[in-house]
Formats: sequence, C-alpha cells, structure tokens
Amino acid sequence: MRKHSYQPIGIFDSGIGGLTVANAIIRKLPQEQIIYFGDTAHVPYGDKSADAIRYYCLRIAKFLLEKNCKMIVVACNSASSVAYHVLTEFFKDQALFVNVVDPLVEATVTKGYNKVGVIATKATTQSDVYPRQLRSRAPNMKVQSLATPLLAPMIEEGYVTNNISNVILENYLSDTRFTNIEAILLACTHYPLIHSNISAFFDHKVDVLDSTDIVAEAVFQQLKRNELLNHQKCNGHQFFVSDYSLSFEETTRIFYKGEIDLEHCALWQ
Ligand code: DGL
Repeated sequence: MRKHSYQPIGIFDSGIGGLTVANAIIRKLPQEQIIYFGDTAHVPYGDKSADAIRYYCLRIAKFLLEKNCKMIVVACNSASSVAYHVLTEFFKDQALFVNVVDPLVEATVTKGYNKVGVIATKATTQSDVYPRQLRSRAPNMKVQSLATPLLAPMIEEGYVTNNISNVILENYLSDTRFTNIEAILLACTHYPLIHSNISAFFDHKVDVLDSTDIVAEAVFQQLKRNELLNHQKCNGHQFFVSDYSLSFEETTRIFYKGEIDLEHCALWQ
C-alpha cells in the first residue's frame, strides 16, 4: 500500500506512560502529526498474559491504521516484547512498524559492554526478549534482568524522590545480579522519569539507557529511509484513551509537559 509523508504517526501504549516516547518523537520530529492511543481500559499490561496483550495490540493497530497512520510505534515495552512479531505479521504491508526493544538492543550492542542489567515489567522480563536479543548479537555480553513491578505504579503516583521511592529503588537496584554492571537498560515506558535517580544510585558510574531519544532516532531513520519524513507543518496531535477518568487525566501531567486533551475512544465496547 502506498504511503505518504503527510500521514500521521500512530503511537500506542498500555496507558499513559508511552507519552515519554511520544514526547521524544515530537521533540525530534516536530513537523509530524501524532495519534496516540493509551489502552487505559487494560493497563497494566505488565501483569497480563502474552495472549491477552497480543489480542489488545492487534485491535489497537487496526484502529491506528483506520486513522491512516503511515507508521505505528509500539511504545510499550511489554507489548513490544510479546506482540511485535504478530503485529508485523498481520500488518506489515499497511504501515511501517517500530518497537522500543530493537533500538535499545542496537544501542547497547554498539557500546560493547561486558555486563548489563535490565529492569522491566513482569511481562517483558518473562519474555526474555532483551537477554535473548543481546546474547544473539553479542555472545560474550552478560545480561541480568529483573522484574521491577512496583516502579510503574510508584511513578504514576508521582513518587520519584521521596522516602518510599528511595527504599523501593534501593531494594531493586542493590540486587546482587547488578554487581559490576556497566549499563542498565530501563525497559519500561515509565522509567525515564527516574533516569537520574537510577544514575545517582550507581554514583553515575553506570550508563543508563532508556527508550526515549533512542527510539525517536530509530523513528527518524526509518521514515528517512522510506522517504516518508513530513516537511510541512503538521495538524494537531490527537490523544485517545480506551477508558477515561480524572485519575488518568492527572497522571498525564506527570508524563507530558504540554497541553493534552484526552479523548475517550470506546474501542472495547
Ligand atoms: N507500558 C508498560 C511497559 O512499558 C508499563 C506499564 C504496564 O505494565 O502496562 O512495559
């Protein structure tokens, strides 16, 4: 199917956290129109089965294709880990696809680390996608991953630098499997908000990689390769959620600094 540069970029996540990725893409490509979809009716994906996540993702991708998107960015790590291959299998002829795992793996491999840590949701950790991909690209790299399920709800509550968040972070990051790591991968939409806390925990001696600017660069490169970069001024962005509540509206302000009008899209009714 022929695509055009003026078509929007679709970005989706299990909820609001994917706005960290949307933010980075908007910063890097201000001329592109973004259509964001947060599946707030089903958040969190981190505790869901792979089959359930795949089912949700297929429906959301269909919605974004109906909105005429030239590219779909799977901003959610849990979704990228378990559903990306299904999405591309079904829809690769209709849009370009970018996930958040591949660019982070690429950036990690390029640096040639000996030992890295990965923190993520349970779904991402159980998928084993980061260790598998990193080891296949860099067989000598030691990869240690840990599910850190308390971090996402903690960040959504705005707990990023207080006694509670410090204790939770310390508890996770002092795990012995992270001894002597050279880098830590923040494999979750929410964790860029605690990037500096994590760096400080390791006395700024460990590289901290997250999927914001690295993914925005991958989006840019893929659009450029396909001659689909938009050079005209874009129409306004749109932000859809599958369930609307005041609480989601408030959470949005933690993740996105600009003005946002959340539109309720009853995808599951
Ligand atoms: N967006 C999810 C991810 O990046 C985190 C929140 C959730 O569990 O849905 O894995």
